[in-house]
Amino acid sequence: MISEKNTTLLIKNIGQLVTMAGPVPRLDDAMNNLGLIENGGVAIAGSEILAVGKSDEIEGRAILAEGCTVIDVDGAVVMPGLIDPHTHPVFSMTRQNEFEMRTLGKTYMEIAEAGGGIRASVRDLRESPTDLLIDRTLKRLDRLLQHGVTTCEAKSGYGLSTESELRQLEIISDLDEKHPIDLIPTFLGAHEVPDEYRSNRNEYVELVINEMIPAVTERKLAQFSDIFCEEGVFDIEQSRKIQQAAKDSGLKLKFHADELKSTGGAELAASMGAVSADHLVYTSDTGISAMANSGTVAVLLPGTTFALRGNQYAPARKMIERGVTVALSTDCNPGSSCTESTSLIISLAALQMRLTAAEAISAVTVNAACAIDQGGKIGQLGQGLPADLTIWDMADYRELPYHYGVNLVTGVIKKGKVVIGTV
Ligand code: NIG
Ligand code: FE
Repeated sequence: MISEKNTTLLIKNIGQLVTMAGPVPRLDDAMNNLGLIENGGVAIAGSEILAVGKSDEIEGRAILAEGCTVIDVDGAVVMPGLIDPHTHPVFSMTRQNEFEMRTLGKTYMEIAEAGGGIRASVRDLRESPTDLLIDRTLKRLDRLLQHGVTTCEAKSGYGLSTESELRQLEIISDLDEKHPIDLIPTFLGAHEVPDEYRSNRNEYVELVINEMIPAVTERKLAQFSDIFCEEGVFDIEQSRKIQQAAKDSGLKLKFHADELKSTGGAELAASMGAVSADHLVYTSDTGISAMANSGTVAVLLPGTTFALRGNQYAPARKMIERGVTVALSTDCNPGSSCTESTSLIISLAALQMRLTAAEAISAVTVNAACAIDQGGKIGQLGQGLPADLTIWDMADYRELPYHYGVNLVTGVIKKGKVVIGTV
């Protein structure tokens, strides 16, 4: 039974309403099923959706609350608020100098080994006043919201000391309160080995395990623990040790895995029951099968390959065909992928990884929700679900990857409130 009592926000004349109703996660062929309603409408009460359906039916049955807002989108596309399941948004200094070094031929790892990369951001963050970090991060969140993101995972990882990792996570918690985007916090103390532990890397592993993880979990500052499992950063054994300690403390797991080389990161993530493994450019066939079996979500980050001038993208088609849950994300960070545009990521996914528009939309909604362990709770539009929606200046959802490099989002609704766009 649908009840349209006390509708506070009514959206009508939606040319294509992408509800994403249907299976969670979207696997294989089902990724092309968008739960599409032509000429759709949505009735919202407060922060929740009351009903989705045909525009005239929804309009005919809605009982409008006093002061109800009615938005006529005149044939536009409406879809769920986008979910960005992998970002590093808390930083102050940007690294355009490194970008230019890469355009001139240096690699990401060469720059990192010479003391740049993540460690350059760490040195800067440790010296940045909290107010400045908050201001800069708020701007980034505003840009994510303008591009349609209503829920976003956010990692620490530029502190790499107990005090500054906690400070980053506290900023994330503060901004979750202040900003319309819901932030899902991830502890990434094992993002790199900081300058002061370069000659004794295992001592840093012990610090993460014995001091940082307990401090983070005591304060309930993170839902996930992530690690940069990569040759020259944290090897498989160090990664297993840190992530086991995190898991024992009640954190859910994510991995940066097989980004620059195949190291068995995907296999490790799957064997530890990780919620997601991310990057996966060089993941082996065994790793892909292990992820399909464990249900570990593959979060693919084509913006990173693009900005690192990589010549190989993650094997998305193979993953989809083998039954892996595939999600997409910006990887928004100051080094390898400085973007807040999910639309650009969708274009890259289409052009470089051969995803259809519908597959890519599944990957930034319902499957992205699974990547932050919120499958079925967000990323879909239906009765009783949060009223997180995006309105797009297009008549056909397939324009999204095709019309590349521009932002076609004209409206964003978060928990029933219009946060972007005018009514
Ligand atoms: O996901 N690979 C490790 N971490 C980030 C890059 C962070 C940075 O360069 O500052 C990534 O690509
Ligand atoms: Fe990352």
